[in-house]
Amino acid sequence: MAIRNLRYEGDEILKKVSREVEQIDEKIQILIDDMIETMHKYNGVGLAAVQVGVLKRVVVIDLYDDKGPIVLINPKILKTKGEQEVEEGCLSFPNQFAKIVRPLEVEVEYTDRNGKRKKTKAKELLAQAICHEVDHLNGEVFVDKIIPGTMEYIEPEK
Ligand code: NI
Repeated sequence: MAIRNLRYEGDEILKKVSREVEQIDEKIQILIDDMIETMHKYNGVGLAAVQVGVLKRVVVIDLYDDKGPIVLINPKILKTKGEQEVEEGCLSFPNQFAKIVRPLEVEVEYTDRNGKRKKTKAKELLAQAICHEVDHLNGEVFVDKIIPGTMEYIEPEK
């Protein structure tokens, strides 16, 4: 496993649409492992492949609970329900946090790393994370949809 270089604000790749994964081969497995390691290194709750410069529809999420890292390949949000106003940040936008309105619940279909197509429901923080990461796959970043005037710049504590 290896830490991959993150792509940051201003990098044009963040605006590109990622391609579907057609075959979950060794290369994809290595990408997934590297993405999990990279997310953990930077204490992120989610990471999309585009953020490490790979335009493939692969997402990893870890809420640091008993569910462990979640891997979503070719995720598709089927339904959303309700709204929540939440604080959000992104590893590609270090130290920037803003308020944003996200669905309270989502139903998502995805392929797991073993190639099995699954359907699941998520709410609150997990729903927020899934929406944020699926946005990345579509070339969208959270700063473009925040509630105006809520951006804060917070330096990490040393
Ligand atoms: Ni992000």
